[in-house]
Amino acid sequence: MKNLKTLLIATLVSGLTFLYACGPSNGGSDSENTSTAAPAAAPASTADIDPAAKSDSKGVGKFTDVKLTAIDPAMADKGLVVFNAKCGACHKMTDQKVVGPGLLGVTKRRTPEWIMNQITNPVEMEAKDPVGQALLAKHLTQMTFQNVTDEETRQILEYFRKNDSK
Ligand code: HEC
Repeated sequence: MKNLKTLLIATLVSGLTFLYACGPSNGGSDSENTSTAAPAAAPASTADIDPAAKSDSKGVGKFTDVKLTAIDPAMADKGLVVFNAKCGACHKMTDQKVVGPGLLGVTKRRTPEWIMNQITNPVEMEAKDPVGQALLAKHLTQMTFQNVTDEETRQILEYFRKNDSK
């Protein structure tokens, strides 16, 4: 029994040494993989998050500071067209779930930055952002990027704002 324990420890230690020794020589992409895997492997905090609750997170992605002014109806109309073409198969603008959550009230429960990062960077959002992790855990489908431009993404946000102002 003692020998088995010693063997296990020895195996573990040599395994770790091996990983450590291989790490730096493998280049950047491997360490990136390691860091994206980490949050998914630790869902303990995610379990406490209600994905329907309000969050102040700005999410993970290129949008860190979105300035809002009064709702622009023409921009919102353009957003509606993009939404119907690229998002409507999975989302309704009511509180009813299809594949993904109903998007009524989304501008009340999320920051504009979070919404735009979710639209342009959904895979990383669901891997790293606590709200994104909770959404994925609830809906069990990974949203994918729908090839929308940054401008179209901003138009969709305007459409969401208009929908929530009614
Ligand atoms: C293949 C189905 C699918 C498509 C297409 C899709 N989504 Fe999603 N979306 C989901 C799912 C599933 C979730 C929740 C789980 C997740 O985040 O992956 C989600 C989550 C979201 C959220 C977060 C909602 C909340 O309550 O916080 C927003 C916002 C969103 N999607 C917007 C969009 C927009 C805008 C488009 C079009 C550019 C789009 N989605 C296209 C499936 C989809």
